[in-house]
Amino acid sequence: MSFTGVIRFRHRPGSSETNEIHPIFEPKDSIAISWTGEPIPMRSDHSDDEYAQVQSDSISIKINRRDGSWSVLTGNGSTIARLVDQGSKIAFDHTGMIFETSVSLEAVPGEAYLGLGEKTGPINKRGLSFVFWNTDIVPYHIDSDPLYLSIPFFIAVRPDYVWGCFLNESWRTEVDLAKSDPSQIRWSSSGSEMDLYLFSGPTLRDVVQQYTQLTGRTPLPPLWSLGAQQNRWGYEKAEDVLRVIQGYRNHGLPLDAIYMDLDHMVANKAWTWNREVFSDPERLVKQAAAQGVKLIPIVNPGIKVEAGYAVYDEAVGKNYLVSTDRGVPLRGEVFPNPSVFPDLLREEVQTWWGDLHKNFITAGIAGFWNDMNEPSNFSISGSKHSAIKTEDDGLGKIEGRTLPYDARHGKKRHLEVHNLYGLCMCKSSFEAVQRFAPDKRPFVLTRAGFAGSQRYGPVWTGDVSSSWSHLSASISMLVGLGLSGMPFCGADVGGFHGDTTGELLVRWYQLAAFYPFLRNHSHKMSVRQEPWQFGEPFLTYVKEALDLRYRLLPTLYTLMFEAANAGHPVIRPLAYIKADEESLLSDDAFLFGENVLVAPITHANASRRSVYLPPGEWLEYPNLSECLLPREGGQFVALEASLNRVMTYVRSGGLVALTRSASHTTTANWQHIEWHINPSSRVEGLLYEDEGEGFGEHRITRVIGESRRDQIVIRRVTEGSLPSVRESEQIHLLGVERASAVEGSISHHVRGNKLVIEVPVDWSELKAAT
Ligand code: GLC
Repeated sequence: MSFTGVIRFRHRPGSSETNEIHPIFEPKDSIAISWTGEPIPMRSDHSDDEYAQVQSDSISIKINRRDGSWSVLTGNGSTIARLVDQGSKIAFDHTGMIFETSVSLEAVPGEAYLGLGEKTGPINKRGLSFVFWNTDIVPYHIDSDPLYLSIPFFIAVRPDYVWGCFLNESWRTEVDLAKSDPSQIRWSSSGSEMDLYLFSGPTLRDVVQQYTQLTGRTPLPPLWSLGAQQNRWGYEKAEDVLRVIQGYRNHGLPLDAIYMDLDHMVANKAWTWNREVFSDPERLVKQAAAQGVKLIPIVNPGIKVEAGYAVYDEAVGKNYLVSTDRGVPLRGEVFPNPSVFPDLLREEVQTWWGDLHKNFITAGIAGFWNDMNEPSNFSISGSKHSAIKTEDDGLGKIEGRTLPYDARHGKKRHLEVHNLYGLCMCKSSFEAVQRFAPDKRPFVLTRAGFAGSQRYGPVWTGDVSSSWSHLSASISMLVGLGLSGMPFCGADVGGFHGDTTGELLVRWYQLAAFYPFLRNHSHKMSVRQEPWQFGEPFLTYVKEALDLRYRLLPTLYTLMFEAANAGHPVIRPLAYIKADEESLLSDDAFLFGENVLVAPITHANASRRSVYLPPGEWLEYPNLSECLLPREGGQFVALEASLNRVMTYVRSGGLVALTRSASHTTTANWQHIEWHINPSSRVEGLLYEDEGEGFGEHRITRVIGESRRDQIVIRRVTEGSLPSVRESEQIHLLGVERASAVEGSISHHVRGNKLVIEVPVDWSELKAAT
C-alpha cells in the first residue's frame, strides 16, 4: 500500500533530564495503528552543520542540531508545523516515574482546529483545551470535558492549506489549542515520549484519508444496524421488550433493533440471563425476529465478586484481573458491587472474554452493546486490598469515576493504558463474533474508545440530557467524531437523562434521520419516550422522520461503504466543501455525504432560522420530497420549518438515491430506487449494493449526467456480480417543471416543481428537456 504525506516521529523532550543524550526508542506496538506497510525511505540530501533534514518527495523534517527544534515542510518547502517549545518534568513515587512532557507547535493566526474525537464545544476548537482521559461523567453538560472516548488528533485548517496531527500516546494527555498562548498549540502527556504523526494534507479530505489509512477504517456494518433502534433502561422483562416491538408495529413505525439494558442479567452479572423475567432468550430472539427486529444486550466489563459465579471464579483462577500495585485483584464498584475488572489489555484475556460471547451468539443475539468501558468505577471497595492514596500527587490518584493511576495491567500502570481499555474490550467482542458467526458482520456498539476504535464498530455519545442544548451539541460532537475516523456514531435520540417532550422528540428524530447510528434511549427515571408516548401530532411527525430515514438508506449505506473504503465521514462539516470563515462557524448545520445539507431546528417553539450555504448552487428540498426555491450559496439564507419539516438542501449537480420506507430492513439490493437529481452541467452519483449482511457479491451503479443547452443526458453504468432485483426505478429531476421530450422513459409527470420519470429497470440512458 502506498502511503505518502505522513511523517511519524518519536520525541523525548525530557531526555536530558534523565541523562539520555541519545535516547533509544524501543520498537513500539500500538493498537491504535492498523497500517502494516513499510515506511517510505527518506533521504537526507539537504543536511548541513546546523540542520539535519530528512525528506521524501511529499514531506520533510528539518531538525536544528543545536536545540533539537524542528519543522515539518511540504515537498516544495512550505512549513506545515513548527516546534516552538518543549519540556519535561519528572516526579517519582513508589510505582515509578510520572512525567509532564510537552511539545508546543506554532499556532498560525486564524488557523482552525477540527476533529479531536468526542469533544463538546464548537466545530472549530481553537481557543479551547481538552483532556484525553476516558471518563464516565454524570451528569454531563455541553461544555464537560473529558468524556468517554479519546482521540488525540486534530486537523489544522488554514485558508490555503490543511494538515493534521495525531499524538499516539495512550497516557493521559492534554491539548491546548491556542488557549493559554494564542501563538501555540501545546500537547502534554504523563508519559515520557511524544509519538507524533503529522499528516500533510493538503485538503481536509486528504488529512481524513491519511489519518484513517493509518488507524483503520470502520468496516461496512450490517444494513439492519442503520435502521431505527430502540432502547430504555427499564425494559424489565421479556414481555416489555415484546410490547415495545408491538408498539412500533401497531403504529406502523419502522424498527430494526431493540436493546436489553441491565435488567436481563441476574444481579448485574455479565453473561447471565435472569430466567425469572427473561425465561427463554432463544424464544425471545425468534419472537423479535418474526417482527424483523434484532436483539442487543448490554455488556459491562465489571465482574461481580461472588464465589461460584463462573466468570468471576475463572478470571481469578487464571489471574486475568486488573490488580493493585501490590498484586491483588483491584476491587471497585460498578453496577455489581463489589466488582473486579478483566485485564482486557492482554490478548489472552481478550480471547477468554470473547469466548463468553459464544452462548449469546448461539442464542441468536445479533450484536453487543459495550458500556461502562472507560472503565467506569464508582468507588474502591475494601481499601485494605488496594494501594489507593488520596493525596493529589499524581500517583495512586483516581481521576474521574475509574481505576487509580497505579492499578496494574501486567507490568503497565493504568495511567498508561487507561484510554485503551474500551478499545480492547471492543476488539475482544468483534473478534468473538468473527469466530462464532463468521458469516455475519459484527455489530459492537461502544461508549469508550481511542484512536482506532472505528475498526470495531459504532460509538454513541453517552448519557446526554433531554434538552435542546444537547440536541444541538450533538451536531458538532458527531462532526468531530466523523473527522476523527469514527463515521459510525450517534447520540441518544430524545436524550437519556430527564424528561423529553413531544416537540423535542420530533426535532431530535428529524436530526437523527441523518445520524449514522440512530437509537432512542432513556433513563428508567425519565418519562417514557417511545415515538407514540406523546400522542398526535408528534407521533405522525416522528413517523415521517423515521420514514425519511428508511427512504435514505441506499444513500446512507453507500456513504458507509465510502467510509469503509476511504474513511470519509457520513456527517461532515460545511467546511468539507470550502473552509471559509462562515462554514467554520456553522455548528448548527452539516453535510450528509457529498450532496445534502441539513439545517435542523434546534430550539423550542422555533420554526425559522437561517443557515449558511457554502459556495455553489443549492435547491431547497425539505424532507427530501417537496422542492422549493433554488438558492445561491456563499451566503446566509432564511428558512421556514414547521414541526413536520426538516430543511434539507441538495447541491447543484448532486444526486441522492432513495428507496421506499419499510417496517424494517431486509437487503441492500434495493427493489425500488429513486434518483433525486438537482441538474446542472455535470451530475455524478454512486450507489453501492449488496445483501446488507455477510460478505457476498456486490454491485456498484454510477449515474452520470451532462446538461447540454436545454437537455440533460443521464447514463447509468453498473459493475459487480450481484444480480439485480430491481422492480422499479425513477428519476426525479428537481426544479424541472416541463414534462415534454423525455426519451428513454416509460412514463413521466410533473409533481410540484420536479419532473418524475419512470425508467425501465434495465435503463442505461435517458434524455430530458430541462
Ligand atoms: C450508563 C449508560 C446508559 C445505560 C445505563 C444503565 O449510564 O450510558 O446508556 O442505560 O448505564 O445500564
